[in-house]
Amino acid sequence: YVDPTFSATVIAWQKQHGRHALPWQNTRDAYLIWLSEIMLQQTQVAAVLAYYARFLARFPTLRSLAEAPVEDVMAQWSGLGYYTRARNLHKCAQRVVAEYGGVFPSDPVLLADLPGIGRSTAAAISAFSSGTRAAIMDGNVKRVFARVFGIDAYPGEKKVEEAMWRRAEALLPAGDINSGIESYTQGLMDLGATLCTRSSPDCGRCPLLARCVAYATGRTKELPVRKPK
Ligand code: ADE
Repeated sequence: YVDPTFSATVIAWQKQHGRHALPWQNTRDAYLIWLSEIMLQQTQVAAVLAYYARFLARFPTLRSLAEAPVEDVMAQWSGLGYYTRARNLHKCAQRVVAEYGGVFPSDPVLLADLPGIGRSTAAAISAFSSGTRAAIMDGNVKRVFARVFGIDAYPGEKKVEEAMWRRAEALLPAGDINSGIESYTQGLMDLGATLCTRSSPDCGRCPLLARCVAYATGRTKELPVRKPK
């Protein structure tokens, strides 16, 4: 049994208390969304902001990025770290131009076949750019789920991660159109980043408090379970 009010709770909270003015929000342009999601994979919002603006000033379109020398792409990425992301970004731009005429596919399965785009990033891009119902499962969402559902096993373990993906799919808001998947997806990210933080969760403000197993059992500090040594 999956609680149908879970997604409604997250969506209502996101609309009131989530982030609405980030530079990659309030657009359906897949290029702008894709670039943000790649930068945000291993880097926090505060650090991404300046790079994002500078990068788009130099590469305003997917085509301009695809046609640029890789050295120029690396130079614009310099300082963000995890440089495989930049090489994959460039390759991905070239493939979208060559294989899709410069238009990102909306199907998350096709997106996940492109360089640097895993299952969760594919879901985020397709939710934000075309309202496609698809589940995300990044580090923030794993932490929220581990706490709310009291998942007492290391989320880096394959079986545990698979079970979390199944739960994430089951919890998606219902309805093919106007499901609110954009607010739901952003809401999960915002909860994990702003309230359900790793070391000092602000449970008093959390819309999921009443259903949080970790809170009820005093285990927010122990969950998610850390990597076994
Ligand atoms: N982290 C990953 N994707 C994000 C997004 N769209 N907004 C804020 N933080 C994020």
